[in-house]
Amino acid sequence: MSTVLLEVENLSKDFGATRAIDELSISLPRGEVTSIIGPNGAGKTTLFNLLTGEIAPTSGEIRFDGDRIDDRSPSELARLGISRSYQINNFFPDLTVLENILIATQSEDAGFGPADFLGSRAASPAARERAADVIDTVGLTDVTDQEASLLSHGQQRHLEVALALALNPELLLLDEPTAGMSPDTTAAMKDLLGRLSTEYTIVVVEHDMEMVMEISDRVIVINRGSLVASGSPTEVKDNEAVQRIYLGGTTA
Ligand SMILES: Nc1ncnc2c1ncn2[C@@H]1O[C@H](COP(=O)(O)OP(=O)(O)OP(=O)(O)O)[C@@H](O)[C@H]1O
Ligand SMILES: [Mg+2]
Repeated sequence: MSTVLLEVENLSKDFGATRAIDELSISLPRGEVTSIIGPNGAGKTTLFNLLTGEIAPTSGEIRFDGDRIDDRSPSELARLGISRSYQINNFFPDLTVLENILIATQSEDAGFGPADFLGSRAASPAARERAADVIDTVGLTDVTDQEASLLSHGQQRHLEVALALALNPELLLLDEPTAGMSPDTTAAMKDLLGRLSTEYTIVVVEHDMEMVMEISDRVIVINRGSLVASGSPTEVKDNEAVQRIYLGGTTA
């Protein structure tokens, strides 16, 4: 088993005349927490969209566990063990916490896809058990039967992470899990990521630098789709090119 879980090589993505990812090469060791940081529009979400097969690269390669995956569909990649949470909540607001999670855990039951959600009564005992575990892990057991739209913002962000966890991934991609959160709920998310880091390889896009410094084994900095720096949190913080970007806006 290789120590590298995910490799991105010379990856580019164009949207018309906009080059959102530009000849990016990175590799992620198995079992580590890697933070991806960079200014607004740097290409962080686009990178996640490429890694999960939601969009196809213009050029370059992505390898997971040594195999090329850049031509695979999102559902194939989910089965391989890559799942992600979204910067903007992606759950069904009118369903309860449990129903939302069952959609994901049920998709592991033979033949089910998310579109086939048949209501929580159709879920297998195994899917129910996995759902209860995941809900417990993210601390939402008390609100299991509450409609997602009625949760607090912090609880909704935890539900968003839970949806990714429910697919039983090896690689967990989290796009700004603390977006819009208060300091208190940010601390709860930091605590959750700390617990998850013992079980999953995690890549997190995060703007809260204090959190980045605390939770990351490695930090990757991108700007305008290109790699600016990568290394330990301290190395990256002391990097001059990184400081220029953060002090001088996106034109560095
Ligand atoms: N579907 C799309 N069509 C056209 N342009 C896009 C599309 N998705 C992203 N872009 C452009 O690609 C660039 C990178 O966007 P992306 O959303 O990946 O940045 P980001 O680093 O996630 O930013 P933020 O911190 O604001 O979330 C931006 O210039 C954006 O406008
Ligand atoms: Mg983004």
